[in-house]
Amino acid sequence: MNINECFLSLSRSLDFSRHGLMRHHHRTALIAVKIGRAAGLPEDEIFELFQASVIHDIGIISWQEKTELGTFEIDAPWQHCRRGYELMCHNVSLQHLAPIILSHHDRWSGGNPSGLAQDHIPLASRIIHLADRIEILLVKTPSILDQRGLIMKRLRGFGGVYFDPALITILEEMAYNDSFWLDIISPWEKECLDLIVPPYRMQMETDYLLDIANLFAQVVDAKSSFTYRHSKGVAAIAKFLGKQIGLDEKNCELLEIVGLLHDLGKLSVPNEILEKPGQLTPSEYNLMKQHAYYTYWLLKPVTQTFPLAEWASFHHERPNGRGYPFGRKGEELEPNARIITIADIVVALREERPYRSNMSWEQITKIMNNLTVVEGLDKDLVSSILDNKKALDYIWSGLS
Ligand SMILES: [Fe+2]
Ligand SMILES: [Fe+2]
Ligand SMILES: [Fe+2]
Repeated sequence: MNINECFLSLSRSLDFSRHGLMRHHHRTALIAVKIGRAAGLPEDEIFELFQASVIHDIGIISWQEKTELGTFEIDAPWQHCRRGYELMCHNVSLQHLAPIILSHHDRWSGGNPSGLAQDHIPLASRIIHLADRIEILLVKTPSILDQRGLIMKRLRGFGGVYFDPALITILEEMAYNDSFWLDIISPWEKECLDLIVPPYRMQMETDYLLDIANLFAQVVDAKSSFTYRHSKGVAAIAKFLGKQIGLDEKNCELLEIVGLLHDLGKLSVPNEILEKPGQLTPSEYNLMKQHAYYTYWLLKPVTQTFPLAEWASFHHERPNGRGYPFGRKGEELEPNARIITIADIVVALREERPYRSNMSWEQITKIMNNLTVVEGLDKDLVSSILDNKKALDYIWSGLS
């Protein structure tokens, strides 16, 4: 598993906004790693800096918050830092990044909620803060090189106040180099990152991927109070179904990972659509449907060791070919993809929606039996659900 690819790809899910897919996290990471290299950080710290910078805003929940942070000077930018910190603290594989995330808007001169100032702020946080604000200052001009003078002037004015003055000095030197600026807006920004981030491959460790999947599932589920345990629920029920039909433990763990990530593309859907208390207009429904397509492309580069992207993103496909977005049918849908589909349906029916309350087992039984006839859902899998209502209730109630 190539950890860099995994982080780079998943981080794109954090860059959806009302205006489409932004590239804030990749660009910030590129600037941060360049500054880190110029500051002489050792390889292991460069890698840590890369990991933290490419997901630094993981604590942002709404697009409104994202828009507010797009202003250079913000009164109190720390709420998402605290949220990100808390998410990371509970994550065994990534908790070493928590203090960096917490302080990524800390000001050099102090007055920060973390209580830190100057050299006490982690160096990686100081670098990300500067890199993040450079990215925010970029505006569209015929050439980015036209902006260099103005951006540097602005940053210089905050040296010793917002930013570590030593980092500003390093940046002054780097700013002479045209390619420093051209790389930031380059369509090859990922290739630029590949050149400067130490490649870090590791044996595909399920626990590590499970930790990362849990982190992103929390971000997705936090988007709406109606789905606060949706990804976790699909993961738990898919794992349960896997056990029921006799899959080995390894396979069941993979199903859990897939369940956690199946709706990653939902970060592209505006909240007013997710929480609309009535029927969606055709155009709103079109936006909603896109999420499964995005899930596919966000997950495709993450691992080649098992078909994560396919199993996850086919959850709205149907055996009769009438699902979306790929129109797969019959044998084209592998058993594990079908398990995720069934788990997703049952969890959605158990959940309340803005336009209906949660359903009873009686209603769910009726709907699922009907879907086996109309859409061709697997009878065996549906039976595994309907024969185990008590066990599923137990799993469901255990999800916080
Ligand atoms: Fe931030
Ligand atoms: Fe940011
Ligand atoms: Fe979905």
